[in-house]
Amino acid sequence: MSKIWHPFTQEKTAQHPLEIIKGSEEYLFDASGKRYVDMVSSWWVNILGHANPDIADAISAQAHTLEHVIFAGFSHEPAEQLVAKLSKFLPNSLSKFFFSDDGSTAVEVALKMCYQFFTNRGIRGRNVFINLQGGYHGDTLGAMSAAGCSSEYHSTFGEFFFRTFSIKFPKTRQDETDALAELEKFLAHEHEKVCALIVEPLVQGAAGMRMYSPRFLDAVVNAVRQHGILVIFDEVMTGFFRTGTMFAFEQCSVVPDVICLSKGLTGGFLPLSLTVVTESIYEAFLSDDWKKAFIHGHSYTANPIACAAALKAQELLQTPAVQENIKRISQLHAELLAELPDELIRERRHLGTIAAVDLTSSALADAAKLEMLEKGVIIRPLGNTVYFIPPYCTSEQSLRYAYQCLRDFLQSPQHSAT
Ligand SMILES: Cc1ncc(COP(=O)(O)O)c(C=O)c1O
Repeated sequence: MSKIWHPFTQEKTAQHPLEIIKGSEEYLFDASGKRYVDMVSSWWVNILGHANPDIADAISAQAHTLEHVIFAGFSHEPAEQLVAKLSKFLPNSLSKFFFSDDGSTAVEVALKMCYQFFTNRGIRGRNVFINLQGGYHGDTLGAMSAAGCSSEYHSTFGEFFFRTFSIKFPKTRQDETDALAELEKFLAHEHEKVCALIVEPLVQGAAGMRMYSPRFLDAVVNAVRQHGILVIFDEVMTGFFRTGTMFAFEQCSVVPDVICLSKGLTGGFLPLSLTVVTESIYEAFLSDDWKKAFIHGHSYTANPIACAAALKAQELLQTPAVQENIKRISQLHAELLAELPDELIRERRHLGTIAAVDLTSSALADAAKLEMLEKGVIIRPLGNTVYFIPPYCTSEQSLRYAYQCLRDFLQSPQHSAT
């Protein structure tokens, strides 16, 4: 029996983990040599596919030059170059970049910065965060708190959570109007207690790739901004063209004060994240008083090898070939989703390279996972939602194959009778 305790896994009932020994493009290979199409980009990180040789070379070169250096009091070229590159794709207002290690820590940093932004300016008591019901921002205590008890994942820890107000997730136009009215009502009484709004823009990943309109997000942001509340967009999953644009917020007319980036940042090679904030937030931390500094850092902050991987991944992401692939996958999603049978599907949706279908039950989604794995396609349903979020290098053939496997599953007499 293995001594390893796996993440997000009920160890008692889970199947024995599949040992993967190799990756290449959209494929993973097990010890027997069986090939799998990775339709979840290995927890949404491998946007450029597995074992990309250009990123591997960049990592190797950096490892032979400078593998790590303390980032307090020191800097290095890979970090400087990465920030310069990303700046080209972000609005001028988002101008200060704070490094950390993963999506959860990028969110922790964002929450702490927003809170301290106010306390550094002598404003106390702004300790409530507004979120969108069902959101997910990571597994550390602050990130769990920010998502609030409406998250199915973390209610066990509810008694540790700071206070939040959850905006109802809108499914219809009427829901949007109602949710905004409720928000306005809350703000009218309690706005002085609110520090920041935190949302996954346009797509809530862990909630089941739930999508909502830029129109609603714009309205929410405009409502909270009237009260001086800061706006955090958690683009840990949506960033780097997942939704079709480099960042999801480009599809809105508002720009956040803080953006959290991770997952696809290094093309899925190494853990790294960024919390990018406005000049005005940064300036609130400038003081002769050391305590007003942002006293937060991790041992591996801005690891040079991870930065070199990110730099190469970001370069590749902008190439015409990758951009073409992103458009192709998006078009294929639209076409292939429509071809899935209506029976057993409650809803289908897609945005950019993300496609999802809600099946009639979670049991059915779990059964689909097992059957598709058998056929060499890796999926990881969220409740009753089966979704595809493939690496951008995924060929048309592999994508068609994954949809074919799902179609066959849904049409098999055994399941269609369920
Ligand atoms: C939107 C969002 N924020 C934060 C996180 C946490 O990221 P990590 O798992 O890298 O800590 C995730 C992870 O899935 C996420 O989807």
